[in-house]
Amino acid sequence: MPRQVITPRKIADHVQRLGELYPPIDPSTVDRTIRRPELVKRRFGHVIDYLARVELEVDRNVLELLVLLPDVDDTNRTFFADVWQPQELQHGVVLDQLQQDLGRAPAEPHLDVSAKIKVLGALAHLKPIQDVARLLYYLTGASTERQAVLAYNQINRGLREMGETAISETIITPIKQQEPGHFAFYQMSATSMIQNNVLRPWQIFLARLLRERSYGLVGTNAMDKYKADMGGVVVDLGLDNDLEGYAREVGRVESRLLWAHQQGLQFPPYILKALRESVEKFYQRQLQTA
Ligand SMILES: [Fe+2]
Ligand SMILES: [Fe+2]
Repeated sequence: MPRQVITPRKIADHVQRLGELYPPIDPSTVDRTIRRPELVKRRFGHVIDYLARVELEVDRNVLELLVLLPDVDDTNRTFFADVWQPQELQHGVVLDQLQQDLGRAPAEPHLDVSAKIKVLGALAHLKPIQDVARLLYYLTGASTERQAVLAYNQINRGLREMGETAISETIITPIKQQEPGHFAFYQMSATSMIQNNVLRPWQIFLARLLRERSYGLVGTNAMDKYKADMGGVVVDLGLDNDLEGYAREVGRVESRLLWAHQQGLQFPPYILKALRESVEKFYQRQLQTA
């Protein structure tokens, strides 16, 4: 496959296009008709809860970014302040409304910036460390946005099967349309850093080390209760039938950019490990509360 060169212009154009194409979802456009709320609640209630919380945590993500990347350029700032944050926030707002329509409690987003991020933030004033943090931020973004795309695909398939066309078409479909553009931003930004050799070998080494030590599935925030919740999401969406296939999807970008020297590696092992851990924690909790 010919190597596609990602220029800063290309990324800036992409960000501008995303902003123009997808204004944040207006809750008044949502059709809240639910044919069989009990059934939707049983099948997807937990998943919708989880996603509503994670989407609403975007405000903490923005704070983390400002801590980690104090010197970001205009393209990055426009993306996360003017495009990404407003879009994700509305995903959270409409999903939170949906879960309350289903009779579930409102989401409780976790909005504290962790001590770990603050430490890394203090170090990020050193340019070489900030560049490592930036690559990790893009890889995290690519991995989490991919997880979002896969989750919304599964939910939409299920809702259509159930004949819940109103919420499928006016909530999940518009959200689902916006996620691939976020993924593309992170994927292009990470690729461009590697293509342009922004990082020296020791920085790449450090990035691998930190990634291995700190990888987390979307929304788990390094906390056991969220890991167990995420295990429940994986199980409810039926993704546990093929965890390796899921790890491959979620880890494709970092396999290519960070681990290309390890030939034949289909996905970084820490991704599968995180998935297994989450599913185990979910079942353990089920047993304890049974
Ligand atoms: Fe989202
Ligand atoms: Fe997103």
